[in-house]
Amino acid sequence: MKYIIKNICCIGAGYVGGPTMAVIASHCPNIQINVIDINQERINAWNDDNLKNLPIFEPGLDALIKKCRDINLHFSCEIEKHIANADMIFISVNTPTKAKGLGAGQAIDLKWIDATARQISKYARGKTIVVEKSTLPVKTARTIKEILGSKNSDRENYQDKYSEFVVLSNPEFLSEGTAINNLQNPDRVLIGGEDLKAINSLAEIYSNWIEKEKIITTNLWSSELSKLTANAFLAQRISSINSISALCEATGADINEVSLAIGSDRRIGKEFLKSGPGFGGSCFKKDILNLIYLCNHYGLREVSDYWQKVLDLNEWQTQRISKIVVEKLFGTISGKKIAILGFAFKANTNDTRESPAINICKELLDEGGMISIYDPKVNVNQIKSELGAEKYDFSNNLDGSWRFAETIIDASHNADAIIIVTEWDEFNNIDWNTISKIMRHPAWLFDTRSFKNSYEASDYGINVWMLGNGLKEKIER
Ligand code: NAD
Ligand code: UDX
Repeated sequence: MKYIIKNICCIGAGYVGGPTMAVIASHCPNIQINVIDINQERINAWNDDNLKNLPIFEPGLDALIKKCRDINLHFSCEIEKHIANADMIFISVNTPTKAKGLGAGQAIDLKWIDATARQISKYARGKTIVVEKSTLPVKTARTIKEILGSKNSDRENYQDKYSEFVVLSNPEFLSEGTAINNLQNPDRVLIGGEDLKAINSLAEIYSNWIEKEKIITTNLWSSELSKLTANAFLAQRISSINSISALCEATGADINEVSLAIGSDRRIGKEFLKSGPGFGGSCFKKDILNLIYLCNHYGLREVSDYWQKVLDLNEWQTQRISKIVVEKLFGTISGKKIAILGFAFKANTNDTRESPAINICKELLDEGGMISIYDPKVNVNQIKSELGAEKYDFSNNLDGSWRFAETIIDASHNADAIIIVTEWDEFNNIDWNTISKIMRHPAWLFDTRSFKNSYEASDYGINVWMLGNGLKEKIER
């Protein structure tokens, strides 16, 4: 038993809404999909003829957009029309941490979810399945149901007939940079709900390309909580390996060797054991903060303290990078040039939300460094908005100022130090012979992603410090 789904509407054309709907569209040619957003600029970018101008960079996304756009995948700001026509509505709006009011700094700000539920309540017609795709606190489905079910005046004036809603939870597990592959071949799809017919309808869509065994169904609250828990576990692994990276530096052990050795135990597993400058991205921090808030709400203080430590360790890991840089550069970086390679929070994305590069740069600027920032996919305006244009000088050759570099070479000219922050492939293929010649000596490389190729820099007279490994002295030629 299932409902027939011919029209899908996705509210929110962001990092989740865009790629998720592109993959569904490519596997379900008989379903019309409308992705809607309140941000006209973003919608224009999704509709841009030049696929290089799509609002997000994700490998493989442009090919799917080319295949489906204006056929069964459409991007627009026509919210009312597309909600009204939809049999199924995905909510993929942002759910950041609350900045003020009750629960500020921890709880999720549900204002965009609230607004979306009201839009659906107002415009939807007939039987409509509402799918939570955004990551939400446990029990949010209850709030959404209440808003959808309330007979507010807006809705009564607007609608001339009945509408009926079913709410499902279907959290998204994609990682940026590998989103299309994750969506095409997920480890699992999770659907939480109470209405079997609605669950079957959503499962049927996924079963167009995903084996039925991978589709897990649960109750609503298990599904909502599983998403927060998955992110907390993943983040916890990174904090665990990062804590050991510091011990490796102190003892002469090598973090990559330790990761390999422990990851070969199937109970531990190889994935997510790469030490780095601390996890970034829009999800881990805010979802753990939300978990902490929920635990406190339910009086589980020990549990919230446990998860808080994962965040504390992450912050410490990022902070210690800039401290090490200043120490190695003889205690002062005032007037020294430092090249930052990578500003995105991870490779293969243009997303900079919560990127460790932000705090590393700010700390070095506060110390008086002159910074050149290069990232293959992040543009200058994005960096300006993350660093706060009003606080830090841009393009000036002054202490505590930064500039945007177009290439690795451009960033490295006369640099006293290079810091690799993001694990872009091109940073593992740097020609250190050339770079050494254009740097000011004594020159330093600080590699927070411990690339194999970085060791070569020491052959060309550069001092190399590797995260989780420590110092490799330069070779005097
Ligand atoms: P995003 O900020 O990139 O996109 C959200 C979009 O929703 C924005 O374009 C915004 O304009 C739009 N929006 C907000 N309110 C709206 C409204 N009332 N009507 C229409 N559009 C509206 O966010 P994202 O990264 O795509 O994340 C969305 C959700 O998915 C969040 O809950 C996040 O936690 C979750 N999630 C994100 C990822 C990820 O890797 N980014 C992965 C899994 C889950
Ligand atoms: C994460 C979750 O992985 C995904 O399931 C969820 O849906 C959204 O949040 P994302 O933040 O896009 O995805 O990327 P992820 O690959 O998880 O990386 C997060 C951060 O951890 C990055 O800063 C990355 O560099 C870092 N990381 C990841 C490590 O430092 N080491 C690792 O081994 C893996």
